[in-house]
Amino acid sequence: MIKSIFFTITFVFLISLPTLSRSQRCNKDDEKVLFKIKKSFGNPYHLASWQKTLDCCQWYNVECDANTSRIISLTIFSGNISGQIPDEVGDLPYLQTLVLRKLTNLTGEIPSAITKLTHLTMLRLSWTNLSGPVPSFLSKLTNLNFLDLAFNDLTGSIPPELSTLKNLNAIHLDRNKLTGVIPESFGTFTGNVPDLYLSHNQLTGTIPKSLGYLNFSTIDFSRNQLTGDISMFFGTNKTIQTADFSRNSFEFNISEVVFPASLTSLDLNHNKIYGSLPAMLTGLNFQYFNVSYNRMCGQIPQGGDLQTFENTSYFHNRCLCGSPLPACT
Ligand SMILES: *[C@@H]1O[C@H](CO)[C@@H](O)[C@H](O)[C@H]1NC(C)=O
Ligand SMILES: *[C@@H]1O[C@H](CO)[C@@H](O)[C@H](O)[C@H]1NC(C)=O
Ligand SMILES: *[C@@H]1O[C@H](CO)[C@@H](O)[C@H](O)[C@H]1NC(C)=O
Ligand SMILES: *[C@@H]1O[C@H](CO)[C@@H](O)[C@H](O)[C@H]1NC(C)=O
Ligand SMILES: *[C@@H]1O[C@H](CO)[C@@H](O)[C@H](O)[C@H]1NC(C)=O
Ligand SMILES: *[C@@H]1O[C@H](CO)[C@@H](O)[C@H](O)[C@H]1NC(C)=O
Ligand SMILES: *[C@@H]1O[C@H](CO)[C@@H](O)[C@H](O)[C@H]1NC(C)=O
Ligand SMILES: *[C@@H]1O[C@H](CO)[C@@H](O)[C@H](O)[C@H]1NC(C)=O
Ligand SMILES: *[C@@H]1O[C@H](CO)[C@@H](O)[C@H](O)[C@H]1NC(C)=O
Repeated sequence: MIKSIFFTITFVFLISLPTLSRSQRCNKDDEKVLFKIKKSFGNPYHLASWQKTLDCCQWYNVECDANTSRIISLTIFSGNISGQIPDEVGDLPYLQTLVLRKLTNLTGEIPSAITKLTHLTMLRLSWTNLSGPVPSFLSKLTNLNFLDLAFNDLTGSIPPELSTLKNLNAIHLDRNKLTGVIPESFGTFTGNVPDLYLSHNQLTGTIPKSLGYLNFSTIDFSRNQLTGDISMFFGTNKTIQTADFSRNSFEFNISEVVFPASLTSLDLNHNKIYGSLPAMLTGLNFQYFNVSYNRMCGQIPQGGDLQTFENTSYFHNRCLCGSPLPACT
């Protein structure tokens, strides 16, 4: 009896061995690297599931590829993480997604070690206290389709090299302390034309004419110190949908600008735009429209959507008049 129980146990143990080793999916190199990352963040509670006793493919905040079991995603969101981004993140060679978000105690610069992550398609380092420049070496991450460095303390200018990234759908550099001009090269994206979010920085200068060669769909340059003309983004054959140029120092005559039919949101408030609103605006369908705080004059064209907006969409201009503002005299 005892003997047969012993045999049964041994048998069960033996047949379960291969099962055990098969379920041990985690790649040992990846596991080692993740432990180093955990240590460099001071073994935070947020990464408590990162334990030897658990297969690393089961840990929170990471994801393994279904076939290769290599780590393809590292996403840490809203945790009590302190310190800098460790160079070891560059040693997860199959990483496609790297997200470090809403971590106010994450400090230091973006390390060049991340250029080793050649499979990276999504890089989101946002709502942190990262400082230093937007590194030009990010242009080595040629598979990137989403770059989000918004809500940090980044300084310096925008690296022109970003325009060599052919797969980008969006660039978020908003809410930093970036200075300098918008690079001429941003008119030469050769693959996708990314949505550009550059608002809430200290960017200066005029917008390069080259940006008019491309069909952007979303541009947000609001709250900078940009000057000159932005009419290159508009024209009959353009496809722009959302345009926010508010709170800059743009200065041009709007009277003959042709706004494309694709445009559904236009915010030009707080600039130095002059001339009168073109009659063609009555033919467009806007969800949002605001030209307040400029230097425009003349009658607001009557018709289309233009009278459906509150008078605050038009107020504080030099002499705009007519509904929804008081009648022209
Ligand atoms: C895994 O491999 C199978 C068969 O080769 C393939 O069909 C599938 O797309 C692969 N899955 C991933 C996530 O690569
Ligand atoms: C950040 O670090 C400070 C000092 O150690 C600590 O008091 C605070 O709770 C931390 N906050 C978060 C969100 O991690
Ligand atoms: C974050 O961690 C630090 C150090 O471990 C601790 O002093 C602090 O209270 C934590 N803050 C929060 C918001 O959990
Ligand atoms: C991080 O950023 C927050 C909000 O921007 C700020 O209040 C805090 O002092 C910063 N912490 C550090 C450690 O820089
Ligand atoms: C922009 O889009 C329009 C309409 O689809 C097209 O006619 C035009 O050729 C495009 N321009 C460029 C530079 O791609
Ligand atoms: C707009 O596109 C049409 C047809 O593709 C073309 O004939 C016209 O010249 C273009 N207009 C401008 C201003 O590029
Ligand atoms: C703006 O352009 C229109 C049409 O070309 C012109 O009639 C008008 O005088 C210009 N306005 C100003 C303030 O220069
Ligand atoms: C237009 O912008 C001005 C300035 O920011 C703001 O006061 C006003 O409420 C806005 N109007 C609408 C309809 O959004
Ligand atoms: C805008 O409309 C409100 C009421 O809707 C009115 O009190 C206000 O005087 C108007 N302002 C202007 C500039 O027309």
